[in-house]
Amino acid sequence: MARTQSRYVCQACGESFLRWEGQCRTCGAWNTLVETLVHERAPGARAAAKARHTGGSVPVALRDLTEAPLRRRPTGIGELDRVLGGGLVPGSLVLLGGEPGIGKSTLVLEAAAGIARGARAGAEVAVLYASGEESGGQLRLRAQRLGLADDPAGERVHVLAETDVERIIEHALASRPDLLIVDSIQTVTLDALDGPAGSVGQVREAASRLLGFAKDSGVPVVLVGHVTKDGSLAGPKTLEHLVDAVLALEGERFGTLRLLRATKNRFGSTEEVGVLEMAGSGLREVPDPARAFLGPATDAAGTAVAATLEGSRPLLVEVQALVAPAGGFGAPRRTVSGIEPSRLALLIAVLGRRVGLDLGGQDIYASLAGGLSVAEPALDLPLAVALASSFRDAPVAAGTVLVGEVGLLGELRPVGGLERRLREAARLGFGRAIVPAGASRADATELADLDIVAVPTLQAALAVALGPARRRHPASKG
Ligand code: TYD
Ligand code: MG
Repeated sequence: MARTQSRYVCQACGESFLRWEGQCRTCGAWNTLVETLVHERAPGARAAAKARHTGGSVPVALRDLTEAPLRRRPTGIGELDRVLGGGLVPGSLVLLGGEPGIGKSTLVLEAAAGIARGARAGAEVAVLYASGEESGGQLRLRAQRLGLADDPAGERVHVLAETDVERIIEHALASRPDLLIVDSIQTVTLDALDGPAGSVGQVREAASRLLGFAKDSGVPVVLVGHVTKDGSLAGPKTLEHLVDAVLALEGERFGTLRLLRATKNRFGSTEEVGVLEMAGSGLREVPDPARAFLGPATDAAGTAVAATLEGSRPLLVEVQALVAPAGGFGAPRRTVSGIEPSRLALLIAVLGRRVGLDLGGQDIYASLAGGLSVAEPALDLPLAVALASSFRDAPVAAGTVLVGEVGLLGELRPVGGLERRLREAARLGFGRAIVPAGASRADATELADLDIVAVPTLQAALAVALGPARRRHPASKG
C-alpha cells in the first residue's frame, strides 16, 4: 500500500528524473534537481485519508466562517512572546533561524522550561526536545548553565536523541507534549530519501512531515534552522512558505546583544522585535531596550545617535564612522556592519555633490553599536553626519539625536513615527533632535525637554550638528 519512491524533480520546470544530474535535461536549468518523495500512498488511500481529516470539505460563505479563538501558550520569555504575538499557537509550525552559535538552542531550551512550568498538571512530558545537534550530555551541561537541571520544570522536558523524522513524530504522538522542538531541521532525515541530512529534499520533506503532525495533533512545533553566511536560511526557500512563523535571532557572535525578529508571522505582527542579552546563565531580557544600542557618551568625532524605529519599538542606536585617507592602490575600502552598502554609497555621493565633502579617496568604515542592523532610510541622516564628523574631525554636540532620510538632491525627507522616536529620545535624556523639515508639526509637539530642530537639507543639518565647517585635523598643518 504505502509505496515510497524518490525522484529528482526540477524546481524550474517540474520534470522528474530517476537520478540526480547537475543540469535539467528538459529545461536546461542548472542545479535545480531536488530529491522528492512521490507516490507515497496509493492514490485512493491518499484521498480517503484526506477526507477523514477534513470531513470532506464543503465551501462556506465568508461571513459564516467561524473563528476559533487562539489559545496562545506563553513561553515565559517576554521578548519571545512579544515577537510571537503573545505566545505559541496550538498546531503552529515556527522556524527559528540564526547563525551557528548565536543562541538558538539556548533560547528554545529556555522556552521549553517556560512551557513546562505552565503545562497542565499531570502531564508527564510537557516538552519533547528532539536534538540531532547535541548529545544528551551537552544538553545537560547547557541546562545546568541555565539553572534548569534541578528545576522541577526540567523533569518535564524530555530529550530525544533522534534524527529520523518519522521516529520523532511517533514519540511525539505517544507522549502528546505541549511543544515539540526539533534542533535542528538540518539534522533530521527521512528514511525514504537518499540525500544527506541538510539537503534541500530532506529539509523540505522533513518539515512538511512535521507540519502535518502539528496540524493534525494541535501540538506546536518549533524548528531550529541554521542560516548560511549570506543570511538566508539553509535549505529551500519553500521552508519559509511552509511554516506559520519565521523568527530570526541576530547579533554579533562575540557581542552579547541579540535581536529577535519575526520575518513572517501568520498569527501576529512582523513588526515586533525582541531584545535579549546573552549572559553567563542564558539569554536575559534587557531592562531598557531603547538604550541597549547606545555606546557610552563621548565627544569623539565620527559618532552620531540615530532614533530608529523597529516595528513599534523605538531604539536609539549609535552610528560610528571612520574616514581615513586611503593608502595603497586600487579602490578605497568601504567596510560596513549593520548598514546597507548601497545606502553608504549613496550618502558618499550626496556628500560629495551636494555638500562639497569629497570622500572619494578615503577609506570608510561604518558600523552600528551592538551588532544591530538597520535597513530603514531614517538612518541616512545620522550616518551622513557621522561620516562628515569623522572627515572634518568635528564631534556632534553631546545629547543630540538625528533622524531623516536623505534624498539624491541632498534634501531631507520625513520619516514615519517621528513622535514615538522623539518621545523615547527625550525619555533617555537627549536634549536636541535634528529632524527633517516638513514633518507634520503635530507629530512632535509637547516634548518639553527636547529642542527639535527641523532642517530642510543635509547641508543645513550638518551646520547644526557640527557647527560651521572647520579645517580638517587642525593640528596637522603639514
Ligand atoms: P547556542 O544556543 O548553542 O547557539 P546555537 O544553537 O544558535 O548554535 O549558544 C552558543 C553560545 O552561547 C556559546 O558560544 C556559548 C554561549 N552561551 C552563553 O554565553 N551563556 C549561556 O548561558 C549559554 C547556554 C551559552
Ligand atoms: Mg544549537
